Amino acid sequence: MRGDICDADLVDQVMPGHDAVVHFAAESHVDRSIAGAGPFVTTNVLGTQVLLDAARKHGVGRFVHVSTDEVYGSIAEGSWTEEWPLAPNSPYSASKAASDLLALAYHRTHGMDVVVTRCSNNYGYYQFPEKLIPLFTTNLIDGGTVPLYGGGNIRDWLHVSDHCRGIDLALRKGRAGQVYNIGGGTEVTNKELTGLLLDAAGAGWDRVVPVEDRKGHDRRYSLDISKISEELGYAPQVRFEDGLAATIAWYRDNRAWWEPLKELAALEAAK
Ligand code: DAU
Repeated sequence: MRGDICDADLVDQVMPGHDAVVHFAAESHVDRSIAGAGPFVTTNVLGTQVLLDAARKHGVGRFVHVSTDEVYGSIAEGSWTEEWPLAPNSPYSASKAASDLLALAYHRTHGMDVVVTRCSNNYGYYQFPEKLIPLFTTNLIDGGTVPLYGGGNIRDWLHVSDHCRGIDLALRKGRAGQVYNIGGGTEVTNKELTGLLLDAAGAGWDRVVPVEDRKGHDRRYSLDISKISEELGYAPQVRFEDGLAATIAWYRDNRAWWEPLKELAALEAAK
């Protein structure tokens, strides 16, 4: 069933009988949150509260809240452990920090069996073509240009299947009330990544359009994944080169999935 997590009546109807909730649902794109924070606060904060209340009311066993490394802010050197203070910079990450802390508060206040995971940048199949890898890949497939902000920013890329492996471990073996970082262990600058995407498309740097930088742009994300590795046996399995090549091939083969989404995004932008 599809529905809105802010719809408390619907959530109340569908919650009974479940052993666990894995809460992925969110407004997730930083640029959209800069254009308008309203839907981020509504879905990410209010929606999480609705889900937590319904899970508590219906005695759901475990509640896994899928959070993000962006709640930590930006880090110049070293990597964040789970104890790092939260210092989000965008309306998106601030709304995720609020929901992350709300989930932990339901553990402390109500004794709910909550586990929080904080992931790095996901990539892979079926990723909405607003994020860097699918946006640049599909623009290049269509012979277009790619809008690179600066380029020196660094992200830690995590294949979606490794992320799911980490969440599954947290769901089955994580300790209640704990936070687990899930990273991919591959840090690259946006410029390096753009170079890889251009090479894969057989395109040159003339296809890159420098654009005004994102407001409040986080320079670097880097997760320390020792806790989930040592406690739960997590290790990323997909090598970045392999995952990226498979992702690019998937977008080449699945135009029917992303083309209508890009058309919709273009219509929205033109409004
Ligand atoms: O780190 C986890 C986070 O990763 C998730 O919590 C977010 O939901 C997800 O959107 C992602 O956030 P980012 O802002 O890092 O991802 P995005 O793909 O939007 O941008 C990646 C980098 O590429 C970032 O430094 C901005 C840059 N960029 C992005 C776009 C869309 C560009 O240079 N040009 C672009 O058009």
